[in-house]
Amino acid sequence: MNKQTINELNKRASRELEKLFDLDKLREWKRQYLGKKGLIAQLIKQLPGITDNKRPEIGRQINQIKNDLKKAYDRKMSNLQNQPPKTHRQEPNNWFDLTAPGEKTNLGHLHPITQMRQYAEDIFTRMGFEIFEAREVDDDYHNFESLNMPPQHPARDIWDTFWTNQGLVLITHTSSMQNRILSTKEPPLRAVIVGRCFRNEATDARHEHTLHQIEGLLVDRGITLRHLIGVFKAFLDEFYQRDVGIKIQPSYFPFVEPGIEFLIDCTICRGKGTMNKKQCSTCGGSGWIELAGAGMIHPKVLKEAGIDPQKYSGFAWGFGLDRLVMMKYGIEDIRHFHSGDLRFIRQF
Ligand code: DAH
Repeated sequence: MNKQTINELNKRASRELEKLFDLDKLREWKRQYLGKKGLIAQLIKQLPGITDNKRPEIGRQINQIKNDLKKAYDRKMSNLQNQPPKTHRQEPNNWFDLTAPGEKTNLGHLHPITQMRQYAEDIFTRMGFEIFEAREVDDDYHNFESLNMPPQHPARDIWDTFWTNQGLVLITHTSSMQNRILSTKEPPLRAVIVGRCFRNEATDARHEHTLHQIEGLLVDRGITLRHLIGVFKAFLDEFYQRDVGIKIQPSYFPFVEPGIEFLIDCTICRGKGTMNKKQCSTCGGSGWIELAGAGMIHPKVLKEAGIDPQKYSGFAWGFGLDRLVMMKYGIEDIRHFHSGDLRFIRQF
């Protein structure tokens, strides 16, 4: 006999007691463990056999266990005797304890893309833009032709496009809504279009077949590129809550003239191009990240929508929301967003 065997006996007895909800079985338990010839009594009988100086300590331990088990037995007995008759009792494992403290329930939350989409919409609303949602399936006219890309125009190759059997397009960009808005709203107009876009391309850490875009349109008299840059910078400063560095490069899109590209200083390496003495993998070491295509709306696009380009001018931009969110949180792989991996989602 040693401390360990005594402890094990104690554990076994407690475990068995916990599962008993029947008076007869309870009495039987008492006989087995606490009875005159029970297991505890047998241990006590062995005490004189211990010759070394551990005897007093072991004796105390057995006594302690005996008292504890006795108390647990008495408590259980009085509980069971105060229970309503068995037929009205619930199964023991289904007891509902009204006084037990509540358990925290995880109800989930909005996806990080949805959260940031709402945040961006809120900023643009405060800047006076009306928010529209893009159709996810549209026709050739709206996705291409009305944007100064007649059939066979080589610029259509910029977008790897999913076509349906009926000749419709899974929109490749939210610019597909430009003509609808320009032809139904009178200038001065400010619109922001949000939507899911689809590209028939191989995926990697920076490319997804399904992505989210936020498009902007502003048309009025005397609008210039300086207005575009001002609006874009104001949005970015608010979105990232810092003074964002921006760079502008010439670019080509058939629906703008001139066309430009916005780059922002990499939020991960803060524009330095290096992280922990290594090349920053997010910006590839350049310190800049391409964020948006933009430009002054092409006169042909305005004319197609019934707006006189002699009287009005306007700007447009389109950027990927996914990339914006990746930059905000330092997410290195765009595929996380659709992975359904709760370890990722729960971090937001
Ligand atoms: N639609 C372009 C794309 O998806 C982005 C873009 C470029 C939108 C220039 C615009 C713009 O409104 O003016 O790549």
